[in-house]
Amino acid sequence: MLGVFGTGLIKGLYTWQVEPFWAEYVKKKMSISNLPEELVGKTLMQISDIHIGDHFNYNYIIDSFKKAQKLSPDYVAYTSDYIHYDNDNQLNQLEEVLKYAVKGKIASVGILGNHDYGRNWSDKIIAEKVSMKLSQNGINVLNNDQKEIEGLNFIGFDDYLGVNFKPQDVMQNYDKSKANIVLCHNLDVCDLDVWNGYQGWILAGHTHGGQCKPPFLNASVLPTLNKRYTQGEIDLFDGRTLYINRALGFKWQVRFNVRPEITIFTLEKA
Ligand SMILES: [Fe+2]
Repeated sequence: MLGVFGTGLIKGLYTWQVEPFWAEYVKKKMSISNLPEELVGKTLMQISDIHIGDHFNYNYIIDSFKKAQKLSPDYVAYTSDYIHYDNDNQLNQLEEVLKYAVKGKIASVGILGNHDYGRNWSDKIIAEKVSMKLSQNGINVLNNDQKEIEGLNFIGFDDYLGVNFKPQDVMQNYDKSKANIVLCHNLDVCDLDVWNGYQGWILAGHTHGGQCKPPFLNASVLPTLNKRYTQGEIDLFDGRTLYINRALGFKWQVRFNVRPEITIFTLEKA
């Protein structure tokens, strides 16, 4: 009895106090069509779902940012959910954390997620304030917009569950001959008819990998309609490759077998 109780206690402590704060720096290659020669070997860091608020000690995010900055990424892409909104304190807390935001040597870009729209994902004022704080800290916010930065063209969708989801605004006139990368918080968008023939990478977050995953089984809790995709690199078999970052932060302070993640892609020509 004592043995079973002791093992359960250790597992519980690990799930509550260890794994949620044990970020993994995942290294991947990213092949991109039309990539300029001078960008071969450059790095793109993806950071997702930091969820700043009162639900956990966000000094962990600041510490993770300091470690990540030492990796000197060339580009940094933030795939949103910057806050976990309960009240306007989260905007001040975000401001404090963004002083340490990881910056790319060439540029940093970001999009918004559902949590950045406050309660019921519907508060445009909160979303505008989050956007402004990101911009003030050197992060280019792409709300259904695109920006080419030294040869890499970032296309950013505003969030699917928010009130400004208009991917057609940017997808109707993107240039297929550019080195494009799409940032899209919610992977359910991959199943919508909004892509206008896009081929290439889609960087997403939102699932947190399910946060807990029993060995050999699927993650049980996913905030998506499409339950097939939980984390990592997924070939969509139509020229698109989806990458789902497992998130650096979390909604509930539990993680098991789904460590938090910062991803570092090394760019290469497709
Ligand atoms: Fe999230």
